[in-house]
Amino acid sequence: MCTEVAVVGLGYVGLPLARRACEAGLTAVGHDIDAEVVAGLEGGRSHIGDIHDGDVGAMRAAGFRASTDPAVLAGAHTVVICVPTGLTPAGEPDLEPLLAAVRTVARHLEPGTLVCVESTSHPGTTEEIVRPLLEAHGLRAGEDFHLAYSPERIDPGNRRYTLRTTPKVVSGSTELCAKHAAAFYERLVDEVVVAAGTREAEMAKILENAYRYVNIALVNEAAVYCDRVGIDIWDVLRCADTKPFGFSAFRPGPGVGGHCIPVDPRYLMARAAEQGFTFHTLGAARAVLDAMPDHVAGRARDLLVAAGKDPARARV
Ligand SMILES: NC(=O)c1ccc[n+]([C@@H]2O[C@H](COP(=O)([O-])OP(=O)(O)OC[C@H]3O[C@@H](n4cnc5c(N)ncnc54)[C@H](O)[C@@H]3O)[C@@H](O)[C@H]2O)c1
Repeated sequence: MCTEVAVVGLGYVGLPLARRACEAGLTAVGHDIDAEVVAGLEGGRSHIGDIHDGDVGAMRAAGFRASTDPAVLAGAHTVVICVPTGLTPAGEPDLEPLLAAVRTVARHLEPGTLVCVESTSHPGTTEEIVRPLLEAHGLRAGEDFHLAYSPERIDPGNRRYTLRTTPKVVSGSTELCAKHAAAFYERLVDEVVVAAGTREAEMAKILENAYRYVNIALVNEAAVYCDRVGIDIWDVLRCADTKPFGFSAFRPGPGVGGHCIPVDPRYLMARAAEQGFTFHTLGAARAVLDAMPDHVAGRARDLLVAAGKDPARARV
């Protein structure tokens, strides 16, 4: 039986996608360079919180197989790339895993295949970086194979908005590429939103996360200010949050965490800087957020001292 979809990178994004494909009745395989991940899945075990061992069992019963051997990609109608796009130890965008995965896909690319990137990256990645690598062996995007970008919006742990029920932004190198990508995702999700091009889809994804990054910084800065002048930030938020339009409440805390929110704006800032553009809001947000761990530790210390406790011995 031919493979309808091959997923490259079986992590928080790739494994739920593969599961959804199996649920939707598509024949699916997965490729990951991590032998432990592959051995676990082949043994019916999940390494992702949202996916239970029973789900992996159901996927396997539907024919899903995982492999470290990229030969499983050969002949797949659609290849979806879901590898990490993190930061280097110096805090710069690290595209190495994406470049490696694209080179692997290029070696197994066949005419007519739809290649879709889901990894988050700066606008221009699909056209300027992915496309030339995929075309290295002679096939042309938009002519011999279809190239698409569709950002993943998965929110691990969210039961209300799942992969299926969250609208999926889809884009292509050409109109026909976008059409093929939309036809593929329409089999998996309730609503597909077609972007004007891959750069618009890439930018939409980063803007969504930059929006949260900036708003988390804003509420944290407001919390620091309120603390300094004796205003109760929690009561401020309780009141502001009653506005039924034009305000979304974010909560102050020790900064910003998770896989994506602290990382994705860095991709945009770095690329914009190369293009001679400074994202002032992101730079300001970063400065506020970087100072939050110290601020929160200082507040905790002050509260302990005020309560007559020795901060060096206290457990918080
Ligand atoms: N985790 C999220 O909530 C989330 C949400 C939206 C978008 N994203 C984006 O999706 C992408 C994937 O993120 P993730 O959280 O699934 O990462 P992850 O680390 O959970 O999983 C990535 C998997 O890719 C594998 N991998 C790395 N290089 C590979 C290669 N060359 N070939 C094959 N497999 C390879 C790794 O072994 C790993 O199992 C990133 O760009 C991320 O920014 C993540």
